[in-house]
Amino acid sequence: MSKVIAASPRLGAAGVTAIRRDFRALHQLVHGKPLVYLDNAATTQKPQVVIDRVARYYALENANIHRGVHALSERATDAYERARASVQRFIHAAEPHEILFVRGTTEAINLIAQTYGRTHIGAGDEIVISTMEHHSNIVPWQMLCEQTGARLRVVPITDAGELRLDEYERILSDRTRLVSIVHVSNALGTINPVDQIVRLAHARGVPVVLDGAQAVAHMSVDVQALDCDFYAFSGHKVLGPTGIGVLYGKTSFLEAMPPYQGGGDMIRSVSFERTHYNVLPYKFEAGTPHIAGAIGLATAIEYLTAVGLDRVAAYEQELLAYGTDALSRIQGLRLSGTASHKAGILSFVIDGIHPHDIGTILDREGVAIRTGHHCCQPLMDRLGVPATTRASLALYTTREDIDALRTAVENAREVFA
Ligand code: ALA
Repeated sequence: MSKVIAASPRLGAAGVTAIRRDFRALHQLVHGKPLVYLDNAATTQKPQVVIDRVARYYALENANIHRGVHALSERATDAYERARASVQRFIHAAEPHEILFVRGTTEAINLIAQTYGRTHIGAGDEIVISTMEHHSNIVPWQMLCEQTGARLRVVPITDAGELRLDEYERILSDRTRLVSIVHVSNALGTINPVDQIVRLAHARGVPVVLDGAQAVAHMSVDVQALDCDFYAFSGHKVLGPTGIGVLYGKTSFLEAMPPYQGGGDMIRSVSFERTHYNVLPYKFEAGTPHIAGAIGLATAIEYLTAVGLDRVAAYEQELLAYGTDALSRIQGLRLSGTASHKAGILSFVIDGIHPHDIGTILDREGVAIRTGHHCCQPLMDRLGVPATTRASLALYTTREDIDALRTAVENAREVFA
């Protein structure tokens, strides 16, 4: 970690400049213009230490884990299990075996639905989600409802994009078996009051799943303090590799759940008559896992931890305020998601211009943003728009990036005026 970053209590311009040096992808021209990368909610760029760590694993440590007696296998196993311990510390879980490596948030939620859900949820039971959920926190529950006869209940949101807690309390009932809510909305930026959500559900004995995909790179998360029963996130949105993610589950839940997939490593013994499953966490990690991904993810979260999540959060809040002000000055632009407690997402629509047209013009200027429904079609219906344009921030985003965004959006508006 650079001395410039370590020395400063806040992540000022010098700290961010130092951080940016670690991300080669940020220093390139796109369509002849310097890249302005504002699509961090879709995926973050990777610092060189992560790229180097993954390369080193493949170059020098590549072996299968938990199986070999040879030195390389032991080295790979050790690195993989140390990665689990890093994730445990990162989200403050009580035990390393509460950390399951999965492909990403989507697989994590499907895992809960098909293991915990299939054994604890039946006909007439209710699963509570919210209007602002990503498809990955809607469809797995709909599939479970089709399989079991359970019913989905949806907590509405306000026009500002805040969860209606009064409605949430009203929806919770004796029929509620599970609550699954996003920690930070990918499309609106809303930071949900997850501690209250958990408390209200637990008061009725209902377990809570939190989708942390958009939270962990932007704020410090303590699953024990939150007291959530499950927490899911993806590696690639937290400076790590794609194809790796984490499902945290409390020991008591994971112990009682049946396995998700069958195969090697998740068993203790197999015969044609009977198979005995392995202990946690291996019971849920069938087959050869994404070893390089887990190791790379650990390096990513160690990098982020060294920068300091509190400094990242404070810096991104300053940037969000700057960006909100800059975009609000553009005539005809309407921000989607104006919650009082918000992370670095700037989603907007401009009267008379389709977001895809804005996105195409911005791309020609080197400005990378996402346009579309952001995998939240029901939310778009609630907002009454087919799509939005979304700029999403990260620890390496600068005020100059926001200025470039504003200029490019103003140019797009003029083109279509
Ligand atoms: N869920 C990711 C996004 O919001 C892909 O863009």
